[in-house]
Amino acid sequence: MQLLVNIDHVATLRNARGEGYPDPVEAAKICEQAGASGIVFHLRKDRRHIKTEDVYRLKETVKGDLDFEMAATEEMLTISKDVNPKLVTLVPESREELTTEGGLDMEKVFEDFRDRVFPAYADTDITTSLFVDPNEKDIELAAKLGSDAIELHTGTYANATTEADRNHELKRLKEGAELAHNLGMKVNAGHGLNIDNLIPLVETVPHLNDISIGHALVSSALFDGLDETVKKFLLIMNTATN
Ligand code: PXP
Repeated sequence: MQLLVNIDHVATLRNARGEGYPDPVEAAKICEQAGASGIVFHLRKDRRHIKTEDVYRLKETVKGDLDFEMAATEEMLTISKDVNPKLVTLVPESREELTTEGGLDMEKVFEDFRDRVFPAYADTDITTSLFVDPNEKDIELAAKLGSDAIELHTGTYANATTEADRNHELKRLKEGAELAHNLGMKVNAGHGLNIDNLIPLVETVPHLNDISIGHALVSSALFDGLDETVKKFLLIMNTATN
């Protein structure tokens, strides 16, 4: 099992002021130095966080696994093949959403992925992964396409508010992971994971390979570093006025 850090929200903060900092590529370096096995980014059509130039800089800098999360548009197919990351994770994307809202509807995308998307990667070394809900049908169709991996959508589990719902979602994830593994696919997982809900997930769900965590990790980092940073600024001010 390995941690891949999603650095999209470092770019969100950078873009909020149109400045060059905080730099998601610098954040990626720190994550890897701290032991993360790789970096995930989502290049969206509207470039609301990661920009195309970030992608090429990440490719140059990241030493571990680089996971290019994207919608299966022609533009993204072209960029991803040019960048040649370790992994491409295909996700549904709609303009209005704040974040990815669920797994791919495999029945809906099956023919398009079979005829257009998977052939595009056939002559590459890129590992393909499909972001799916823990449904038997979606997982079976992912295997039928010949996908190397799936990423189980953990958002419904993360958002469950009662213990019964949480346990129900954990059971679905466990069964989904077992099915995908038995069908010969690697099992990744992500969305909405945090320090609290990560523990039952990794204790319950077998065969987990890459765990992708972004929002909660970047948020925790902010609070873990705030105390030290305030002291640093105060030290400068006090030193300057003494
Ligand atoms: N996996 C996928 C497919 C995602 O779309 C996202 C969100 O960008 C994540 C993982 C990470 O989710 P979070 O930011 O909630 O940790």
